Amino acid sequence: MAFRVQLNPSNKVFTAEKTETLLEAALRSGIALNYSCSTGACGGCGGRLVSGRVRATQHHDFKFPDTQQAQGYVLLCCCAADSDLEIEAQEVGGVEDIPLQQISTKVEKLERLREDTMILHLRTPRSQTLRFLAGQHISLAIEGLQARNKSLASCPCNAMNLQFHIRRVQGDPFSEYVFNQLKLSQQMIIEGPWGSFTLDEASQRPIIFIAYETGFAPIKSIIEHTFALEVGQPIHLYWMVREADRHYLQNLCRSWVDAMDNFQYTPLQGVPVTGVSSWEESGMPGLDVSDMDSMAAAIIADYPDLSGFDVYLTAPDSGMEKIVQILQQHGLPRAQLHQDVMQRF
Ligand code: FES
Repeated sequence: MAFRVQLNPSNKVFTAEKTETLLEAALRSGIALNYSCSTGACGGCGGRLVSGRVRATQHHDFKFPDTQQAQGYVLLCCCAADSDLEIEAQEVGGVEDIPLQQISTKVEKLERLREDTMILHLRTPRSQTLRFLAGQHISLAIEGLQARNKSLASCPCNAMNLQFHIRRVQGDPFSEYVFNQLKLSQQMIIEGPWGSFTLDEASQRPIIFIAYETGFAPIKSIIEHTFALEVGQPIHLYWMVREADRHYLQNLCRSWVDAMDNFQYTPLQGVPVTGVSSWEESGMPGLDVSDMDSMAAAIIADYPDLSGFDVYLTAPDSGMEKIVQILQQHGLPRAQLHQDVMQRF
């Protein structure tokens, strides 16, 4: 059974199942409420019940002062809806509201999609999930190796199960370790989040996502967040890779097209790598500048006037300026361009 919850002061509405806490329901719906421990210890998820009934789901040590209790304050991590509700609670306003966190996680799954591409699944403790905004990145530390910055590829609506896309790069100790030595249940310390490559939730403009190679990871996180929020505007994803079979989550992209009326997907292929590529030399994706030309040409052919769009773009440093220039020549205002330089492999 599900209930309707109206959240003030933002006027957002979400659905809460009887079996989930109000905090879980809000996060699942893409709403970034303030919280910390999720276990009733800190008081960080406090909100005021304006109307309706809630029921306690677990014991909590934190106690509100009498005045707040009298005003109807409840811990959203410790109660579930028992009727339709109206509540008042603080939402995260932006990346500056998210605290820096250090969490000891465990390797949950090592999902090898190709010989050189892996999805690393990490699980946080239930009492210390990672608070982040879709599109942000964190640092991953393995004992004995230099920590590595990686974009989160999963949605903040599932803050206990985190995903990262790892490209194997010859000679890179981190990726070699992940591919050859990392074990299930092994500990990994994560720290973060960082970065401001996040969704402009106030905008109603249609969205174009442009991903290059494993720059797909933060874009996947943002796309899944738009689904959780049930945004209504059209969304078009372009994903360029260097070799024909490198769209390593092609079926996922196609399932989005099938499931969402407002979603389009265009896979693109650039210039295949021949000989020794800069992947091996620098750990960054080799880039033929014609990749940027052909990626931009495909987008411009579909959308010759970009003035009314929001564009989210990941590309290597060496190609970023080129594609940004082309997009701006076709009317894209600077304020509507969100870019993430790929430096996290
Ligand atoms: S998040 Fe700490 S008490 Fe709810």
